[in-house]
Amino acid sequence: MNIDKYRHPENNVENFFFERWSSRLFTDKPISRNQILSLFEAARWAPSSSNSQPWKFVYATNDDFREKLNLVLNPFNRKWAIKAPLIILVFSKNQNNGKENRNAKFDTGAAWMSIAIQAKIMGLNTRAMGGIDHEVAHNVSGLSKDEYSSICAIAVGYADPDYDNISENTPSSRMKIDEFIMDKPLNH
Ligand SMILES: Cc1cc2nc3c(=O)[nH]c(=O)nc-3n(C[C@H](O)[C@H](O)[C@H](O)COP(=O)(O)O)c2cc1C
Repeated sequence: MNIDKYRHPENNVENFFFERWSSRLFTDKPISRNQILSLFEAARWAPSSSNSQPWKFVYATNDDFREKLNLVLNPFNRKWAIKAPLIILVFSKNQNNGKENRNAKFDTGAAWMSIAIQAKIMGLNTRAMGGIDHEVAHNVSGLSKDEYSSICAIAVGYADPDYDNISENTPSSRMKIDEFIMDKPLNH
C-alpha cells in the first residue's frame, strides 16, 4: 500500500503510527488463534489508572457467537464488517475498588490503540465502530450495564488490496499539529 499518497507526517515519527489506518474492506483470509492472542497480549500491557486494567474484550470469529456479535453492529457497519474474520466488542469496567473509575474509558482507549498498532505491525487492519447497539452488546455478552459500559466494536482482518479503488475506503488525513496543541493559555 502506498501510504505516501494519502498521509504526510509533519515531524519525525515511527512509521507505524501514520501507516495504521482503518479499512472497510477485508479479504476472507482467516486469522489464527495465536494472532488473536497477540492482539490481546498487546492490550494487556496498556497503562491504566491505579493499574485497574478496566478493559474487557468479547470476541468471535466464525461460529454461532459471531452471528450474535454481528447483530450488535448497526446496519451500515454490519454491511461491510460482516466480512472481517474477527469482531471484538469493547467494554470498560465502571468501578475500581468500589469507586467510580473516571479514567476507565481513557484506559480502555489506550488498550484499543495497542491492539490497533499490534495488528498493524502484524500486517492486519482494524476499524473501530461506534455505530453499534449498546443494549444488544450487553445482551449478547452477558455483561451487565451496572458493571460495564459498552464502548464500541472493532473489525479486524486483512485489508483487501482493492481498497485503493474505493473512495470511502482510503486512509484519512489529519488536522495540523498546531490545531490541537497549546503552549499558552487561551486568550493570551
Ligand atoms: C471510537 C471510534 C468509533 C468509530 N466508529 C466508526 C463507525 O461506526 N463506522 C465506521 O465505518 N468507522 C468508524 N470509526 C473509524 C473512524 O472513522 C476512523 O478511525 C477515522 O476516520 C480515522 O481514520 P483512520 O482510522 O483510517 O486513521 C470509528 C473510530 C473510532 C476510534
